[in-house]
Amino acid sequence: MGMKMIKIFDTTLRDGEQSPGCSMNLKEKIEMAKQLERMKVDIIEAGFAISSPGDFLSVKTIAETIKDCRVASLARTVKGDIDRAWEALKDAAAPRIHTFIATSPLHMEYKLQMTPDEVYERAIEMVKHAKGYCSDIEFSAEDATRSNPQFLAKVIEGVIKAGATTINLPDTVGYTTPDEHYEFFMNLRKLAPSLDNVTISAHCHNDLGLGVANSLAAIKAGVTQIECTINGIGERAGNSAMEELVMALHTRKDMLDADTRIVTTEIMRSSSLLSRITGVKVQPNKAIVGENAFAHESGIHQHGVLNNRETYEIMTPESVGLNANNMVLGKHSGKHAFKNKVKALGYDLSDEDIDITFKKFKVLADKKKQVYDRDIEVLIDKESVQVPKTFSVDKFVINSGNSITSTAVVKMMKEGKFIERVSTGDGPVDAAFKAIEKIVGMSLKLEDYELKSVTEGKDAQGDALVKISNEEGTVFAGRGLSTDVIEASIYAYVNAVNKMIYDEENHKKMREVN
Ligand code: KIV
Ligand code: ZN
Repeated sequence: MGMKMIKIFDTTLRDGEQSPGCSMNLKEKIEMAKQLERMKVDIIEAGFAISSPGDFLSVKTIAETIKDCRVASLARTVKGDIDRAWEALKDAAAPRIHTFIATSPLHMEYKLQMTPDEVYERAIEMVKHAKGYCSDIEFSAEDATRSNPQFLAKVIEGVIKAGATTINLPDTVGYTTPDEHYEFFMNLRKLAPSLDNVTISAHCHNDLGLGVANSLAAIKAGVTQIECTINGIGERAGNSAMEELVMALHTRKDMLDADTRIVTTEIMRSSSLLSRITGVKVQPNKAIVGENAFAHESGIHQHGVLNNRETYEIMTPESVGLNANNMVLGKHSGKHAFKNKVKALGYDLSDEDIDITFKKFKVLADKKKQVYDRDIEVLIDKESVQVPKTFSVDKFVINSGNSITSTAVVKMMKEGKFIERVSTGDGPVDAAFKAIEKIVGMSLKLEDYELKSVTEGKDAQGDALVKISNEEGTVFAGRGLSTDVIEASIYAYVNAVNKMIYDEENHKKMREVN
């Protein structure tokens, strides 16, 4: 038998975005979707159109933007949900309606308060309704792994007859184990033979850390679509991590006889783009994308790797897009060289965006002797997800030391007017943040603050992350970059403020439209 191609269904923007601290605004979701397209995922689940006006808009915009992947929207087996999903998807090059209902006794009784017969009828009726709009219909039986297999098989046979083309059987609570999951799919293929005429899909949560292992077991049992997220983000302990699944298949094709069409060299960029956008970093020892995933610390390992990389490396860092920080451009580089570099890094920027980023590059090259690929990537990612600058920093002066109270004077511009405020604080960053809070005139809670360097070296850029929350408790992550760490921190704080304002304005607009 030839190699099986596994379809990758990415739900970073739906199941992933549902998790605490991972919310993204419209621009960020579009940027993420474009990156998923670049890495050639088969299906992008762009959101849950009915869940909010913002989600509807992002599904619609992604559906209109993405050309090389299917775009799906989630919908309960409810008419209004399906209608809204279709409204958002109708202009997609390849739309998919993804409708779901729970089939486990626990969920049917306590969540849905429906009898199994009612669930069965509803599932069929709504798949038929969705089929009236779209030929590509995915049906998910929520909490499938804790459902009665006979009942589940009956639902599966029914919805396939009604027009479902993909059947997804989620391990919603991350309860199963690899052997059990293998048996689960093998058994269902016996009980519901029509499964062999459609795409069978697995969707594994990671509560016991078994998401990827369970997905691999499902593949062995005949599953040809896997639902997963970048960095494994998602409800509770998250979903199966796409990068782990893809690299497991890629590295162990010999065992699994299966592969994906994912461009693996885009993995690192997808992972860091998501971390940059959400402000949620991956643990250093995380497989594939963790900072230490390819680091060899001990002398014995280093010696081995220097002689022959295969002594301790089962895959190359290059295969996931991790290149050595090769020095690139400097302050004498022209726009042509910059444009070529941007292209070589895999970005497709408009002339206008090239002009903007080139100016920023020049400023950076003036401050920093050596500009690395990573610096340029961070610069582009930052620009491309930039929200309107309601507030912009004009000047600041900080007075600080170990024997005086830190004082900050910050001057910012809002709608053409300058506003200046002074504040003291517990250290220079705190003083600056308090001065900005006075200028913004809102009560903001600082949830998190982190500083790290983009590359190595004394003149490396500081990369600051600031998370603030508004009165409703919604968290906004802002980033700031500068070779001066205080400046980076100020930029990050102001970026978070601008994101908060952008979000509030979008909500206002959406309320007016609806
Ligand atoms: O975990 C789950 O069951 C889901 C479904 C809605 C597909 O996310
Ligand atoms: Zn899920």
